[in-house]
Amino acid sequence: MRLRRRVIQAGLVVVGLSLLAAPVTAQSVNRAAIDDLNEQLLYVALPLTLFVELTLVYVIYRFRNNDDPKPTVDDPALEVTWTAATGAILVFVGVSAFVVMANPYITPAAAEASADGDDAFTNDTEIDVLAYQWGWEFAYGEANVTTEERLVLPADKNVTFRLRTTDVIHAIYIPQLGVKQDIFPGRTMTARTHATEPGEYRLYCAEMCGAGHSKMDATVVVKNQSGYDAWMENQTTAAG
Ligand code: CUA
Repeated sequence: MRLRRRVIQAGLVVVGLSLLAAPVTAQSVNRAAIDDLNEQLLYVALPLTLFVELTLVYVIYRFRNNDDPKPTVDDPALEVTWTAATGAILVFVGVSAFVVMANPYITPAAAEASADGDDAFTNDTEIDVLAYQWGWEFAYGEANVTTEERLVLPADKNVTFRLRTTDVIHAIYIPQLGVKQDIFPGRTMTARTHATEPGEYRLYCAEMCGAGHSKMDATVVVKNQSGYDAWMENQTTAAG
């Protein structure tokens, strides 16, 4: 009886601690979708882990002096139950993950392909990203503005990245905005985001691309619309 109470107490402590780890607000739509999925899966995984581990501890304790163990007899009802329960959990995990994968911010190529030849993202701010050994160049749509190692984005707007590489395979990776996409030679890849929090973030190359790979990073600056416009104006006059 005392053991049971301890086990229940331990379980409550674990659940309490997991609730304390309150999620911070996501910095982009992509990031929010990924964080939500993580949280959903955590709420499934946590009780399961607790159930399995506590059962294990209980069984070790309960049968520690059993010198004559007997094998379990067939129990079709039990077997059907655990097979069905496992199946249901796998379907839940699969469907949750698929919904996020199908999100047009996470997998924009799929959204574009299903748009029947129309440009699905016409109203997005378009930025051409050029990766090379070893650095990044960003060109801003119609505006005749190009930056190196510094990517400036408007907040609360859809942004489409057209990604190209001049040499080998690179990968754009902005963890805090939930953006990650391999860039293959000879192809234009697409990535997309919608940043919600102005601030500074890190951009990395996430594909081993030679001796300078570790130095192939950039700063991402998310500005609110007026800040972005002012910056763009500044860049244009500086260039002209
Ligand atoms: Cu480019 Cu690693």
